Amino acid sequence: MPGNLLQQALEEIQKADTTTALKDVEVKYMGRSGQITELLKTLKDLSPEEKRSKGQEIQTLKTGFTEAYSTRERYLQKAEIDAKLKAEFFDITLNEINPTRSLQAGTIHPLSRMQREVEQLFAEMGFQIADGPEVESEYYNFEALNIPSHHPARDMQDTFFLDHPKDEKHGHLLLRTHTSPVQIRMMEKHGAPLRIIIPGRVFRYEATDATHDSTFNQIEGLFIDKGIGLAQLKGVMNEFLQRFFGESDIKVRFRPGYFPFVEPGIEMDMLWKRGNHSKWLEVVGAGMIHPNVLKAGGLDPDQYQGWAFGFGLTRMAMLKYGIDDIRHLHSNDLRFLNQF
Ligand code: DAH
Repeated sequence: MPGNLLQQALEEIQKADTTTALKDVEVKYMGRSGQITELLKTLKDLSPEEKRSKGQEIQTLKTGFTEAYSTRERYLQKAEIDAKLKAEFFDITLNEINPTRSLQAGTIHPLSRMQREVEQLFAEMGFQIADGPEVESEYYNFEALNIPSHHPARDMQDTFFLDHPKDEKHGHLLLRTHTSPVQIRMMEKHGAPLRIIIPGRVFRYEATDATHDSTFNQIEGLFIDKGIGLAQLKGVMNEFLQRFFGESDIKVRFRPGYFPFVEPGIEMDMLWKRGNHSKWLEVVGAGMIHPNVLKAGGLDPDQYQGWAFGFGLTRMAMLKYGIDDIRHLHSNDLRFLNQF
């Protein structure tokens, strides 16, 4: 009897030509009230001897069914995938033979392009391009820049701290809040004279709005040599801004400003003209490098002087292209990006 049942089940398995049909066969024999399942249920009423021999038979039946079932299942699954792939044929020559479909080429992100532009302009003025880590220590980000631990200036730059044990000398790890720590790293590594710019991403733990983002890009500048003064800074920045904005009559002015790592510190404004309107915009922080900062970098302040500046590349980009919301720049929204 079970022999016939197996025969019959195997035939049905072979006849099933889709995985769905095959599933039905499984339910018919092995489901909750399937024929093989029902047979198993009869075992409990038998004597121990009968149970043993009958049990063995049913077990053989079950194994026979399962083996045939999985072989057929694998075959049907593969056939179905092959059929699907065949139907989903993708014509890679379509763009060539059908000129109404245009190819979409990627382009460089406006911020990256602008960074390259700035690098190029400073390189032409004899500056080298340097780089530093985005994960910094309290020492480089603050201490060495003349911002000791209880200095109120630390609160001016809200900081992302890393969950990492504190180091004796360098303090906690953090995401750098400005590119200025690379000043120290460059002095330590190369000494003086130095003429570099440092482009990079910086991070502030701040609420975002149209003019603030928690990640933005800065460009730091550093010029160290003997007998350096602020006159060169004015000349360099004037030249840079004229070339960057492509306008020959850009005016800059210095105002006193406070940054712990420079003395005197200055804010640089640029006269911004649009149509009949013009106004002074604060664009760059700068100053003569503080003697404590030169010392921290291993230089003798009696021998070397220098100036430093820092500005937001992101802000420059917004001015240059009239972008009204800083968050567009990291949105990866093609409607925005395609305008560049
Ligand atoms: N690090 C300053 C900031 O992020 C910007 C800055 C100001 C950089 C003055 C300088 C400088 O090098 O001299 O707000």
